[in-house]
Amino acid sequence: MELPAPLRLAVDRYLEDTPLGDLKRASALLSSRYRAELRDGRLHLDDVLAVKAYLAARLPATYAAVRASFSMVAAGRPDFSPATLLDLGAGPGTAMWASADCWPGLGEATLVEASAAARSAGAKLARSLASIDVRWLDADVGRVATVFPAADLVTLSYVLDELDPAATGPLVERLWSLARDMLVVIEPGTPAGWERILAVRAQLVRLGAHIAAPCPHDRPCPLAAPDWCHFSRRVARSRLHRLTKEADVPWEDEKFIFVAASRHPAQRISARVIAPPRQAKGMVTLKLCNVGGSAGQRVVSRREGEAFRIARRLDWGDSAHFGKESGAAD
Ligand SMILES: C[S@@+](CC[C@H](N)C(=O)[O-])C[C@H]1O[C@@H](n2cnc3c(N)ncnc32)[C@H](O)[C@@H]1O
Repeated sequence: MELPAPLRLAVDRYLEDTPLGDLKRASALLSSRYRAELRDGRLHLDDVLAVKAYLAARLPATYAAVRASFSMVAAGRPDFSPATLLDLGAGPGTAMWASADCWPGLGEATLVEASAAARSAGAKLARSLASIDVRWLDADVGRVATVFPAADLVTLSYVLDELDPAATGPLVERLWSLARDMLVVIEPGTPAGWERILAVRAQLVRLGAHIAAPCPHDRPCPLAAPDWCHFSRRVARSRLHRLTKEADVPWEDEKFIFVAASRHPAQRISARVIAPPRQAKGMVTLKLCNVGGSAGQRVVSRREGEAFRIARRLDWGDSAHFGKESGAAD
């Protein structure tokens, strides 16, 4: 997956005069802060150079994760076409760009961001997105006194890991009340990110939400630590990205996890593939989360005919349906 061309060009223009050495140092610092999930009262993106490092090294990956999450949402809710977006901890506007790409009917976006440097960069990039009326709000997402507008789609992408864990419950309750239809929360695909999404998911179900993706059911998650659920998207690395991260490989795999909750039920899928399928001679092994609320491995052999042909084409994150005659997944 790559950034949409107008965003890629706008990022290139924004970064063109930045010395590579500065970008590398800022990127290394940013990575170490993210890896440590450091909460020291400072924003990770608190200055222009940190934001530039984010644009060079992280934006393509977070964009890919958000866009892939939206694709799963859109598959389950083909009728969903948001006109308005509220994005919290917007950074450079990642979720807005991904929403515009997934749902071309999007006309208005309110982006809440505490970092002045991120807002300034995001506003410059957004000039290339003429179809959307964008409003930036300088606010702390945890501050109850600030009024945020309700929207068809509310998003919180790669933000929970920067907040005080005690703030998550009240924030999720508030975001759900602001979501006219859909709330999507995305986190890094780490065990800690999954634990956070698991808590958000359970809270949203208690609040009466329907899980739209990625889970095929609203029942309790069948996985237990040390197992965890996540997905992966391959992201093409630009030349600048490779230089900034001193990486040889022209791509990277971004691991992510999310939950999308809606006021309306989604089309139910039979199962979701929740790990990379393993292929051996005449056999495909799939790890599935099933519509009935269970999860586990299913081995599909060549003898199963049509089910085998389906299984061979499945990828991590896909919805799986084998038809009644081949045996339901649950
Ligand atoms: C990792 S970045 C994610 C940016 C964007 N959502 C994305 O997915 O690429 C987290 C963003 O949340 C912002 N942020 C962190 N804590 C915040 C808070 N309490 N209020 C508002 N924004 C916050 C940071 O400044 C940063 O821009």
